[in-house]
Amino acid sequence: MVWINAMKTLKQSIQELKENFDAALKKILTEQDLESARITFLGRKGKLSQLMTVMKTLPVEKKRTFGPAINQIKQECEQLLHQKKDELKNASFAQEELKKTNFDVTAYKPNTIASSLHVYTQFIQNIENIFISMGYEIADGPEVETDFYNFQALNVPPDHPARDMQDTFWLDVPGMLLRTQTSGIQVREMQKKGAPLALVAPGRVYRYEATDASHDSTFTQCEGLLVDKNISMSHLLATLQTFLQKIFKKDNVQIRVRPGYFPFVEPGIEVDFSCPFCESGCSVCKKTKWIELMGAGLVHPNVLKHGGIDPNEYSGFAFGFGIERLAMIYYGITDIRLFHSNSIDFLKQF
Ligand code: DAH
Repeated sequence: MVWINAMKTLKQSIQELKENFDAALKKILTEQDLESARITFLGRKGKLSQLMTVMKTLPVEKKRTFGPAINQIKQECEQLLHQKKDELKNASFAQEELKKTNFDVTAYKPNTIASSLHVYTQFIQNIENIFISMGYEIADGPEVETDFYNFQALNVPPDHPARDMQDTFWLDVPGMLLRTQTSGIQVREMQKKGAPLALVAPGRVYRYEATDASHDSTFTQCEGLLVDKNISMSHLLATLQTFLQKIFKKDNVQIRVRPGYFPFVEPGIEVDFSCPFCESGCSVCKKTKWIELMGAGLVHPNVLKHGGIDPNEYSGFAFGFGIERLAMIYYGITDIRLFHSNSIDFLKQF
């Protein structure tokens, strides 16, 4: 064949092939190199097969000598290629592993997605902090409540018409309900701590009601209660005005009261506050300059008694408002259902 120098014997050619193969093997770095070496030496038209062709032209006794020699070289080469393949695989695996162990913390700075507390949690913390700064403590109560604490202890006996003011989710267990108001916490705390007492209790409440942009069947109220000697309506009014001024960060927020009926306070009032966003009427106050917010009053003597407090010695005030309602006014949110919507677009704004 062409590439065999006429001077060379087949034996020399075999030896040379092996040497070339070994040299080529040493230079192999990738699986691609390996494949082209295989094709060059062992492929159908490769160097080894060329030697075979030459050998076939030899007389029989020469064939007997060179046949096995060529086959042996072929096997050796195949085995060496195989070994090399394993080595390459192991090396690339080792390199991957090395990358992991040599992880350079300074080389990669992860991106961040800014996050924050839920608007509702932020707002509750705001409210709590204002009352804490005024000397109040934060109280809590069960959402699955008894008829006693949710109604009876608040001066609403069974069959009292005031029960119709709050549509109730009754549970299968007689006398148990999902609390319709946080007011039940008043009596629980009075029983626990006695007088004097000053607390606010933000908490979730439930109403068996149709929902719309301003009503949800699950929402949050903030209850307030202060019991001490000689507490009067003027303490209540000053407290509420201070709270509203602080939450809106405006000293000129005023309050105004109207008579209101709540069985657990006497007298009971409805409290409005002057619109913090305008002086002559805007869309928030519906051009009235006033915004309705909460119910309040002086704690009814029957409620103090249920709490184990002597109404002849102590008096108190209480108030309750919807946290979402105040937050909606504060932030300009137009649909109460957004608070529970889990809408990322909504939440990202706060
Ligand atoms: N619990 C009342 C409601 O859900 C709100 C309320 C009114 C709370 C007057 C009070 C209060 O403490 O004195 O409508």
